[in-house]
Amino acid sequence: MAVAYPRKFQNAIGARDILKQVVRDGAEHPHDCDRELHLITLNRYRYAEQRSCKDLTEIIEELDGQPPELVRDLSHHISDEARHAMWLTDLLVELGAKVGTPPGSSYIDEFERSSRQSPVSAKRTGFV
Ligand SMILES: [Fe+2]
Repeated sequence: MAVAYPRKFQNAIGARDILKQVVRDGAEHPHDCDRELHLITLNRYRYAEQRSCKDLTEIIEELDGQPPELVRDLSHHISDEARHAMWLTDLLVELGAKVGTPPGSSYIDEFERSSRQSPVSAKRTGFV
């Protein structure tokens, strides 16, 4: 399946063209490891975009419908993040790159650790 890119590209730019702009490979970087590192970085972005959909959904469930305007806005935000994840996933798959869970620790996990005392998690656990 062909990768569809954001409207601003009007499908006039392909995965290879984007790769040249985002990840400089070929003659400019003769070492394959440079390209691999960039692809790992792009996969980390993909993972973060995908994960945000899950986290924002959890927040919506915590809100339990109140206030409706916030639930609506978060729902739209999830839609945006899902599109970002889809673009990166399509790009990486088309390039033959890995789309598994990125290696090492992620800033998402660090954020979750640091936010355990947030008002939302305090409400969830009953500890304020
Ligand atoms: Fe995003």
